[in-house]
Amino acid sequence: MSAPAPIPDTTLVLAMSLDGKIADVQRGAARFSSSADLAHLEQRVAAVDGVLFGGGTLRAYGTALSVRHPHLLAQRQQGGKPPQPLQMVWSPSGQLDPQAQFFRQPIPRGLITTAMGARNWDSEQFQRIWVMPESRTHPWDWPWLLAQLQQEGIHTLALLGGGTLTAELLRCRCVHEIYLTLCPLLLGGVTAPTPVDGPGFLAAVAPRLKLLSHRTVEDEVFLHYRVLPPDG
Ligand SMILES: NC(=O)c1ccc[n+]([C@@H]2O[C@H](COP(=O)([O-])OP(=O)(O)OC[C@H]3O[C@@H](n4cnc5c(N)ncnc54)[C@H](OP(=O)(O)O)[C@@H]3O)[C@@H](O)[C@H]2O)c1
Repeated sequence: MSAPAPIPDTTLVLAMSLDGKIADVQRGAARFSSSADLAHLEQRVAAVDGVLFGGGTLRAYGTALSVRHPHLLAQRQQGGKPPQPLQMVWSPSGQLDPQAQFFRQPIPRGLITTAMGARNWDSEQFQRIWVMPESRTHPWDWPWLLAQLQQEGIHTLALLGGGTLTAELLRCRCVHEIYLTLCPLLLGGVTAPTPVDGPGFLAAVAPRLKLLSHRTVEDEVFLHYRVLPPDG
């Protein structure tokens, strides 16, 4: 059997309430973390070739987090990277609001979708559109899709949620590291999104993690984990 095609080094970055929610029950934008967490998020975005988030997240925020800090922009330039990573949204239906601020931001944009979902979009809105072959959508063949990104020069990827997309990539064992910021509030609500939604994993086969580092800034805890390989 041939070795699986290489995929980008993928790092999940999320902020979570102490009771494990990444937004409240209204499923709007999560704006509960501190300025220290936003700076941390911008650093993670500045470190990668591409950023991936779900359509639900784009609908909630309407924007993408771009690199703005001069030091981070200079770092990217020194590393031979373009000023901004490619900001990619996963939306099988392609039903996104073309009036969203996202489409006016001076950033390169990508869309990962189906043939149907691609119909309403052009190269003005998305510089790159990946159309998943129908045969690879039940379930989504993320290793195949991510291998296409890798071939196009996206070697490092920041995965910014939401919980539906995160569950998809974890199902395929395509997440290598996780940064989770624990924020000092309690959101509650059974329908509020969590870092990993989807159907869930049975404990016996759940992804396992190794803590790489932790630090606190005031009342927030910044955790950094490596995802262990299935047999690790
Ligand atoms: N705290 C944080 O760090 C953080 C970070 C990111 C997001 N969030 C929060 O997470 C929430 C969004 O998460 P989310 O899980 O709703 O969306 P999501 O993971 O951002 O996007 C999910 C996408 O999955 C697609 N999809 C395919 N099959 C689906 C199915 N059976 N059910 C649902 N979606 C399906 C949908 O595509 P279509 O476009 O085709 O519908 C949808 O756009 C927001 O409240 C946001 O604020 C929090």
